[in-house]
Amino acid sequence: MTTVLLQIMAVLLVFWVPTMHSCEVSIHPKVNAVMFGASLNLTCTVSCNNYTELRWEVALPFMLKKGDGWINLYITSVTEWALPLSCLVNYGDFNQTYTRKVIYVYEFSTPVIYPVSEVLNDHLEKIVCNISSLKVRGSIPSHSNISLSRDGKILNSSHGKPSVEYNFVPNLEHDDGAEILCQANLLLGSQVLRKNANQTLKVVASPYNVSISATHVTYKVDAKIVVTCNATGKPNPEYSWELPSKVNVEFSNSNRTVTINSAKEFHNGTYRCLIHNIYGKNSAQIDIVFEGKSRNWVIAPVITMLVLGAIIIGGVVYFCRTRPL
Ligand SMILES: *[C@@H]1O[C@H](CO)[C@@H](O)[C@H](O)[C@H]1NC(C)=O
Ligand SMILES: *[C@@H]1O[C@H](CO)[C@@H](O)[C@H](O)[C@H]1NC(C)=O
Ligand SMILES: *[C@@H]1O[C@H](CO)[C@@H](O)[C@H](O)[C@H]1NC(C)=O
Ligand SMILES: *[C@@H]1O[C@H](CO)[C@@H](O)[C@H](O)[C@H]1NC(C)=O
Ligand SMILES: *[C@@H]1O[C@H](CO)[C@@H](O)[C@H](O)[C@H]1NC(C)=O
Ligand SMILES: *[C@@H]1O[C@H](CO)[C@@H](O)[C@H](O)[C@H]1NC(C)=O
Ligand SMILES: *[C@@H]1O[C@H](CO)[C@@H](O)[C@H](O)[C@H]1NC(C)=O
Ligand SMILES: *[C@@H]1O[C@H](CO)[C@@H](O)[C@H](O)[C@H]1NC(C)=O
Ligand SMILES: *[C@@H]1O[C@H](CO)[C@@H](O)[C@H](O)[C@H]1NC(C)=O
Ligand SMILES: *[C@@H]1O[C@H](CO)[C@@H](O)[C@H](O)[C@H]1NC(C)=O
Ligand SMILES: *[C@@H]1O[C@H](CO)[C@@H](O)[C@H](O)[C@H]1NC(C)=O
Repeated sequence: MTTVLLQIMAVLLVFWVPTMHSCEVSIHPKVNAVMFGASLNLTCTVSCNNYTELRWEVALPFMLKKGDGWINLYITSVTEWALPLSCLVNYGDFNQTYTRKVIYVYEFSTPVIYPVSEVLNDHLEKIVCNISSLKVRGSIPSHSNISLSRDGKILNSSHGKPSVEYNFVPNLEHDDGAEILCQANLLLGSQVLRKNANQTLKVVASPYNVSISATHVTYKVDAKIVVTCNATGKPNPEYSWELPSKVNVEFSNSNRTVTINSAKEFHNGTYRCLIHNIYGKNSAQIDIVFEGKSRNWVIAPVITMLVLGAIIIGGVVYFCRTRPL
């Protein structure tokens, strides 16, 4: 009976021996990345309680809490780029050490998109997205990328750099109000950290696509003339005029239109529309020519000639009559 028991114990011992001194040691939580300056709170647990001592080996000052089978480590601020951490279990005659080999201490700030204000229509502009601090263990990490995209389509991206730029010529119609997204990824071991920023693009434009039109380019006296000026711009441009005369001229349609209900000769001339907003100015002009007296001006020389002719003929006749024969 006892031999049987002894044999069972021996068999048990055979199985126990290889597992001896190997209580399970683990560190929780399983995070392996900590932001530079942030706190770190880890707990080391041992699956058995026959150890003589349980402790942490860390190069930074920390606070401790411990209990049966566990020990807690709290570092208020991680200020070392390299942070070897070990949980050490002493069983009297030997030590068991559990090391969290790779702790990534990193800096990864939220990206910022520039410009924060407007871009100008039809000009070469640049959108930059950068991360003010990007470091892993004190240096710029190669396993990172940053991209700028619009409607899910990548505009440009860069790898292993803290910034990306996109050069383009904005178009008021196509680009105003576009949502630009900047996304940054940082690979830490098997973990991917992601941060992003977005911005709505504001495109502004000095006045362009300027046009001017008039109901008449030649007119006769008392005609009604309407001249309209039009342009595109953002903000909406303002209009003013340089006119041959301001007499009896009406402005309407936010000053885009000038109306002369009964045009006179003095309304003849160049109608110049001046367009401006805070980003620039533009202009357009049209000549409106008075021809109400044009026939008279053609006839006048004839009349003059006729009058002159009559005078000459009259003179000759008079001379002939008065000349004593
Ligand atoms: C401590 O106890 C575990 C089981 O709880 C055992 O496997 C291990 O051999 C023991 N270690 C020592 C040093 O006694
Ligand atoms: C650390 O985390 C444990 C739970 O995981 C919590 O009980 C403890 O209060 C935390 N310590 C500090 C200092 O926040
Ligand atoms: C266990 O670790 C302690 C502290 O590091 C050390 O003093 C001791 O000599 C170690 N024991 C063995 C057997 O290695
Ligand atoms: C980010 O980009 C902007 C615009 O190019 C620049 O003014 C700023 O200095 C950059 N910041 C960093 C941290 O590189
Ligand atoms: C950036 O890295 C992430 C994670 O490694 C990857 O999924 C993504 O496709 C990369 N993006 C670009 C634009 O390379
Ligand atoms: C994309 O980025 C590269 C490198 O920063 C730059 O040289 C290139 O001009 C960018 N492309 C566009 C379209 O902006
Ligand atoms: C853009 O950012 C705002 C807040 O910053 C957020 O509410 C919005 O969902 C973001 N849009 C996209 C498309 O990511
Ligand atoms: C401005 O003119 C261009 C051609 O010169 C035309 O393609 C565009 O549609 C015009 N835009 C507006 C707002 O009229
Ligand atoms: C002025 O131009 C805009 C866009 O270019 C157009 O939608 C509008 O109809 C034009 N107005 C006139 C009076 O021509
Ligand atoms: C309209 O145009 C006239 C002529 O240039 C100018 O005197 C006037 O101030 C303008 N009015 C507005 C509201 O811009
Ligand atoms: C009428 O205006 C046109 C164009 O501005 C100019 O060439 C012409 O001399 C003007 N005629 C008169 C009679 O003022």
